[in-house]
Amino acid sequence: MSSSFRIAVLAGDGIGPEVMAEALKALHRIEAAFGHRFDFIEADVGGIAIDRHGAALPQATLDTCHGCASILFGSVGGPKWEKLPPNQQPERAALLPIRKHFGLYANLRPAICYPSLAHASPLRSDLVKDGFDILVVRELTGGIYFGQPKKTDSLSEGEAGFDALSRLSQKRSVDTMIYTTAEIERITRLAFMAARKRQSRVTLVDKANVLETSVHWRTTVREIATDYADVSLEYIYVDNAAMQVIRNPRHFDVMLCENMFGDIISDEVAAATGSLGMLPSASLGASAASGATTFGLFEPAGGTAPDIAGKGIANPVAQILSAALLLRHSLKLEAEAASIERAVRETVDDGFRTADIWSPNMHKVGTVSMGDEIAKRVRK
Ligand code: IPM
Ligand code: MG
Repeated sequence: MSSSFRIAVLAGDGIGPEVMAEALKALHRIEAAFGHRFDFIEADVGGIAIDRHGAALPQATLDTCHGCASILFGSVGGPKWEKLPPNQQPERAALLPIRKHFGLYANLRPAICYPSLAHASPLRSDLVKDGFDILVVRELTGGIYFGQPKKTDSLSEGEAGFDALSRLSQKRSVDTMIYTTAEIERITRLAFMAARKRQSRVTLVDKANVLETSVHWRTTVREIATDYADVSLEYIYVDNAAMQVIRNPRHFDVMLCENMFGDIISDEVAAATGSLGMLPSASLGASAASGATTFGLFEPAGGTAPDIAGKGIANPVAQILSAALLLRHSLKLEAEAASIERAVRETVDDGFRTADIWSPNMHKVGTVSMGDEIAKRVRK
């Protein structure tokens, strides 16, 4: 059955527009091969939106997203905007608000180390030669990122904490880590359901030896686990998790994390795969657990890579695989998603590599050729 979908395309800054063009190429091939129609509606976000409209997330961009089934996102930020006050910088003024605005609480970050690319991993080859496949399931709209109060106050002389001998202005800042049972429950159920389609193992990453919120996570997850008796559950403190990821990445299947732990652990497992340019992510909203079309935001994990922007050498795979996740999780087009993933794997197996994953005797190609090779291999 063929269908028509509107997709918001927010390419953003740095390598965003270059790699986005390759993702759209793959999606055009899907249209042709499967008989769908995608209407791509472009909108500005991030630094380019600051330059053009004076805001990192203009209302017009939000309106565009509201009119679409899903968002394909590039990346935002760069040196040009780093001198702005922190809360006006593209990352904080575009990415966090868009996640919150659409209630995208569930962030899936699959980190797959392909055996054929294991040479690029910083881990010892005996640990990664057979590859690994970890899914980080990160809570994305709660915890210390959004909890109130979140502020910095000036201290006056005599107040607790004031150091009269210091030459610095005296302040007190606070971030708040806060979780409700409902917030923990929805992401936990999603993690268990995802595990069922994989190795059926969930590891809860927490700091229950110190944090009240982590104790709450543990008790909630333990209770929910009884509904998924076929899935095994283990708990691990976040510091130990950081260590075990580099000692034995194959130990892990689904790593369930609160927001900040997931931010940190997902970068670590991504780096362990050897190629940040290969990793997509999906951020899903309220209907994520249902079978219906789900609104979501799909973006590569690697960021804007300002050092290589405009040079035509960026790896487009993460953006292309993000488009595949959009097809799977948002539009529920599984065969189409699998077709793109297979095309990527075949392209890599056929020896085509961008500079970041290149090794001797392989064809070194730029962004556009890599995108062409992948698009060519997309078929029904
Ligand atoms: C990520 C990024 C963001 C986050 C930043 C850019 C705000 O690191 O998506 O992991 O911390 O969530
Ligand atoms: Mg991060």
